[in-house]
Amino acid sequence: MSSLLLLNGPNLGILGRRQPEIYGTATLADIEAAVTARVADRGWKVVSIQRESEGELIHAIQDNYDSVGAIVNPGALMVAGWSLRDALASYPRPWIEVHLSNVWAREAFRHESVISPLAAGIIAGLGPLGYELAADALLRLAPES
Ligand code: DQA
Repeated sequence: MSSLLLLNGPNLGILGRRQPEIYGTATLADIEAAVTARVADRGWKVVSIQRESEGELIHAIQDNYDSVGAIVNPGALMVAGWSLRDALASYPRPWIEVHLSNVWAREAFRHESVISPLAAGIIAGLGPLGYELAADALLRLAPES
């Protein structure tokens, strides 16, 4: 069965409780369920991995080269996660960078992403809907599988 990699970085495992005025009240489990529903008709399963550390995220990428594509919310690693960037450079499938919040409307330090140049596309500011739209995009971008 084909799988889609849903990768979330530091501090995203506590969604729902984390600054809900910024990130909303949906939990990561809610997001996983929405993405799973979105790709079910294609027969894809979702491999959802959330880790607090960059090294573990890199292992998750390396362990899932056979996935059809990935949705990646790097959290604050967007700013300086150079080894995450290198891992994504070796990932052989299309992947979409997602941010729940509109990082451009926030502090200046969030206006850099070292991974964005490698992404097939970027979605920011649409909350959990962004993950569903990224799943839709991968359904279009991934070769028939
Ligand atoms: C985030 C935005 C980042 O700046 C922040 O560090 C996060 C979450 C988002 O989804 O809006 O952890 O990636």
